[in-house]
Amino acid sequence: VPSHSDFSASTPSSLRDLFAIDPDVVFLNHGSFGACPREVLEAQWRWQLEMERNPVEFLGRRSAELLYRARTALATELETRAENLVFIPNSTTGVNIVAQSLTLEPGDEVLATNLEYGACDATWQRFCDKQGARYRHVDIPLPLKSHHVVDRIMAEVTPRTRLIFSSHITSTTALILPVAELCAAARARGILTLIDGAHAPG
Ligand SMILES: Cc1ncc(COP(=O)(O)O)c(C=O)c1O
Repeated sequence: VPSHSDFSASTPSSLRDLFAIDPDVVFLNHGSFGACPREVLEAQWRWQLEMERNPVEFLGRRSAELLYRARTALATELETRAENLVFIPNSTTGVNIVAQSLTLEPGDEVLATNLEYGACDATWQRFCDKQGARYRHVDIPLPLKSHHVVDRIMAEVTPRTRLIFSSHITSTTALILPVAELCAAARARGILTLIDGAHAPG
């Protein structure tokens, strides 16, 4: 187990130095089990220690204001307002929150691409099964032509399509999908979109 000092800040000489990854390992997985930059780990430890100094003060009296400040900082980065942001444990939880908040009628449809992340796919499949709705995948052929993606998805829309679910950056292939155009096209047809934005802010 690495000690705290193994991660201490030093002037990074390369991107690799920004991470605590074993120098003997060529680590290519930034998804499911990706590594955090040292700077993030250090900030996380600082906050943990701060909380442990006086948990009641921290959680009971300070956390709401601190979280609001963090949302405000993030909002600036994402060019939105803090009121539009909610912190959640991870992307899968976010997809679950939206799925659980949606009322579908039997025969309604949720449309997704065939490039979605497994846990999120499983969430929609389970939710649709429970509601008697259909979860349908649209094949996105490679090589990718961005306008084709939107056209292909929208061509599969039916009068029963309630929501379109798509990744912004796909998990297995790191494709960047044209989600702004997709949202606009769906909105024009009165259809909700949920974008899985894991990786996108980075
Ligand atoms: C596109 C995409 N969505 C969702 C997830 C799931 O992320 P989490 O396990 O943080 O919920 C991943 C994980 O790599 C992903 O690549």
